[in-house]
Amino acid sequence: MEKKKTFYITTPIYYPSGNMTLGNSYTTIVCDAYARYKKEQGYDVYFVTGTDEHGQKIEFKAKEKNVTPIEFVDEIVSNVQELWKALKISNDDFIRTTQKRHTDVVEKVFSYFLNKGDIYLSEYEGWYCRECESFFTETQLVDGKCPDCGREVVLQKEEAYFFRMSKYTDKLLKYYEDHPNAIVPEARKTEMINNFIKPGLEDLCVSRTSFDWGVKIKENPKHVVYVWIDALMNYLSVLGYLSDDDTLFKKYWLNGDEKIHVLGKEITRFHVIYWPIMLMSLNLPLPDRFYSHGWLIMKDGKMSKSKGNVVYPLPLINNYGIDAVRYYLLREIPMFSDGLFTMEQFIDRYNNDLANDLGNLSHRSISMINKYFDGIIPSYKGRVTEFDKELEEVGKQAIELFIKHMDQFEMNVAIEKLFVYVSKANKYIEDSKPWALAKDETKKEELASVMVHLANVIYQVCVFLKPILIEKSAFILDLLNVNEALRNYQSASKFGILENVKVSDKPTPAFVRLDAKVELEKTKESIYQPK
Ligand code: MSP
Repeated sequence: MEKKKTFYITTPIYYPSGNMTLGNSYTTIVCDAYARYKKEQGYDVYFVTGTDEHGQKIEFKAKEKNVTPIEFVDEIVSNVQELWKALKISNDDFIRTTQKRHTDVVEKVFSYFLNKGDIYLSEYEGWYCRECESFFTETQLVDGKCPDCGREVVLQKEEAYFFRMSKYTDKLLKYYEDHPNAIVPEARKTEMINNFIKPGLEDLCVSRTSFDWGVKIKENPKHVVYVWIDALMNYLSVLGYLSDDDTLFKKYWLNGDEKIHVLGKEITRFHVIYWPIMLMSLNLPLPDRFYSHGWLIMKDGKMSKSKGNVVYPLPLINNYGIDAVRYYLLREIPMFSDGLFTMEQFIDRYNNDLANDLGNLSHRSISMINKYFDGIIPSYKGRVTEFDKELEEVGKQAIELFIKHMDQFEMNVAIEKLFVYVSKANKYIEDSKPWALAKDETKKEELASVMVHLANVIYQVCVFLKPILIEKSAFILDLLNVNEALRNYQSASKFGILENVKVSDKPTPAFVRLDAKVELEKTKESIYQPK
């Protein structure tokens, strides 16, 4: 058998300064859907996520609560892990930056950079934002406040280590010239190159003495490693880099076929500038692609704790199930620009796409197969009715476009294209009027063709939606009694595979229409509770 290509995919590691929001869940769901998609495509996938637990902000928060930093993060990290479990996230590992397997690597690479002369000791003065754990120069501030989060900044001066980023400016520029598709979307790449790299990189401050909660620098323990070196190294430490067993590192990173990082746009700079330079210094291969997605925003702007408009995922999962949440986020939020979250749209998507389009199509079709053919999907005899050809052609194109856009990481577009097929199938029922065919003895073959066509549309759509609707696609495929061996992309690519199968005689609807008014009232407050 041919060896599978490897595919390594990561989420950013999240700050456990509070419970995960719908925004954090969005990134994780995007990666999960993509990891599942690549598996369907035959890749050997390794998918990781984790938590970024060091830094001043966590130290503050713990103090506020009168607990130690590790006690503070332990509790939140356990909530994070439970949430990902509830969402059935398929990650292969979960890295915590407080784990020894990680801190060992950070210590080792820091010493390596120091010995190599890429890190040197100097003094830093700058405007520091505690929330973002970032220093800013005077000119970067917006109205004297943090340019990223808008909070107050303080002038801070301290002895600190610096990474010689400037040394790598030309090499990095050359790299992006040679790999023009490495940063997606293009606009973000242009911004990074023109605003940050071309003007010449400033050396990056990579240590702090103003707090304790971090990896101590062995050579000078009053310093702790500044969060970004610590955080970024997770992408290698989770694979066992520099440990006794570095099999995964060799397989997925060093000799891996594809390695991608998915991240929110606000941390693009750290990923596409500092991380590649660290890798260059370590003489390691660079990731193939950085996907920098947009934000989930609210009517009154970005979700923010101070505005009290942060949405949490649990109430949505508990009320509507994980697939409704996954579907909404992946379908509604454009991958590379900001997308507005509203409960009205959430309910609309659920009712229109899932309940009316997909749910109804499955329910009606399976009920008709029961009514007209004793529950047995008739044999596929090619294109019999005048509407069959058009349906099959729309389907072929929809699947091709789905794959094309998934490959380009445009999941919202991919889903939209596939649902064109679902709508077409609903229209096909109206056009071919099976209820009329059933009344005419001479139309038995046409009726059989309509039924097998409908069964095959549902089968194909549900197989291709497997990475997105992880429970309901299986639920519908079960109603159709589709053999496990056929639940894969390769089988479902061909029309007409599903035939002569006995479907469920009690097709419970996969999605039941929601009453918008009732649901809006139900979620009015609960979605803002930081559970
Ligand atoms: N710890 C750093 C990342 C280090 S990676 C080496 C960090 N953590 S975070 O907890 O702030 O998580 C940020 C990520 O969560 C964003 O990059 C984004 O992927 C996701 N999101 C958080 N809020 C979001 C929205 N409102 N919308 C979309 N994604 C958002 O930064």
